[in-house]
Amino acid sequence: MIDKNRNNSLIFPHGFLWGTATAAHQVEGNNIHSDWWKWEKDRKLIEDSGIACDHYHKFKEDFRLAKEVLHNNAHRLSIEWAKIEPKEGKFDENVINHYKEVLAELKRLGLKSMVTLHHFTLPLWFSERGGWEKKENLIFFKRFVERCAQEYKNLVDYWITINEPNIYTPLAYLQRIFPPQKGSLILTVKVYLNLASTHKAAYKIIHSVIPNAQVGAAVHIGMFKAFGVFENLFPEISRRIFNYSFFDLTFKYHDFLGINYYALHRNTLKDIFIKRKRKKETKEMIEGELNDLGWTMYPSGIYTICKEMYKRFHLPIIITENGIPDAKDEKRPSFIINHLSWLHKAIEEGVDVRGYFHWSLMDNFEWNNGRKPRFGLFEINYKTLERIPRKSAYLYGEISKNNGILY
Ligand code: BGC
Repeated sequence: MIDKNRNNSLIFPHGFLWGTATAAHQVEGNNIHSDWWKWEKDRKLIEDSGIACDHYHKFKEDFRLAKEVLHNNAHRLSIEWAKIEPKEGKFDENVINHYKEVLAELKRLGLKSMVTLHHFTLPLWFSERGGWEKKENLIFFKRFVERCAQEYKNLVDYWITINEPNIYTPLAYLQRIFPPQKGSLILTVKVYLNLASTHKAAYKIIHSVIPNAQVGAAVHIGMFKAFGVFENLFPEISRRIFNYSFFDLTFKYHDFLGINYYALHRNTLKDIFIKRKRKKETKEMIEGELNDLGWTMYPSGIYTICKEMYKRFHLPIIITENGIPDAKDEKRPSFIINHLSWLHKAIEEGVDVRGYFHWSLMDNFEWNNGRKPRFGLFEINYKTLERIPRKSAYLYGEISKNNGILY
């Protein structure tokens, strides 16, 4: 359902970034030197990422779609550390040059580039050394960042050091969903703090190589609601820990706030410690529309969190991810319109939002959920690797072309 209360054309600020976001492991294929690759093979439970969308070889075709069908002026992707440094200290020049070509292609098409340096995957050698658990390992990531900054300094417009430290850490170290599947509160805290130090170090390195660089992190920001006596307390605690803590810990080391926003979180702290049955949920939540992964869509949340985050941190905001798994593309069109309408309202009310990156350009390998969730504006036929535009692709293309929603 499209929110009916806002029916004037909604034009976004001049120079607003319109893009889509992807991550190397999810689209490129053959990430054979990564911790995820090994884990997928060892677990044998899920579909492995395999050749994914073969974006490694098809990037030109994909960027052409972003330009010609989506009319985008920006694109977010990640550079795969495991491919660049497959063995400790051995940098692969071919791969380094490959990403130069990738970034040069974006430039040629007039798309601003946003590059993520860590998007969930690690070189296997690094994770076998204990990964982010050990502070002394951070030096390896710093070396990689320094190399990327030197190699790509003329090609990157926005840098994202780390994607969703606040999702990666609990999933990998508390809830045992992502590798290395450890369940330890102590390690969770340790890794989170190490990621905060890593971000600060990476920020400084990039700025020392490129003084006027735009550097940030992409943090998953949730809308929290809880019930009964916990109504105020738990959302507030969740907000402080989940939404604010990474920015609090790394304050002054962000040129913009990268925000990934997806859904209403029923999982407050209370859910982590006490398993709660859904029947206790309020009417509003049960009636909320669910996407293919069962998450409650909550478009006005993007407005609320932008207002909240801007008030607290006073930095320009870029929506680095927002999207929906919707194989039939039935809900995606109104999802896009509604989220952008609410985002526009935040801008109208003074929030400095600079861009929106839809997740994702195409269907891709959705981590522990395999290929089933379909997040793409372009459908992927996994047999032929054909890219097929969904109707949302044309809709998003119109919005991007018009720099807004015309009614
Ligand atoms: C991640 C993506 C993921 C998307 C949808 C974000 O948390 O950054 O890698 O595919 O959400 O689950």
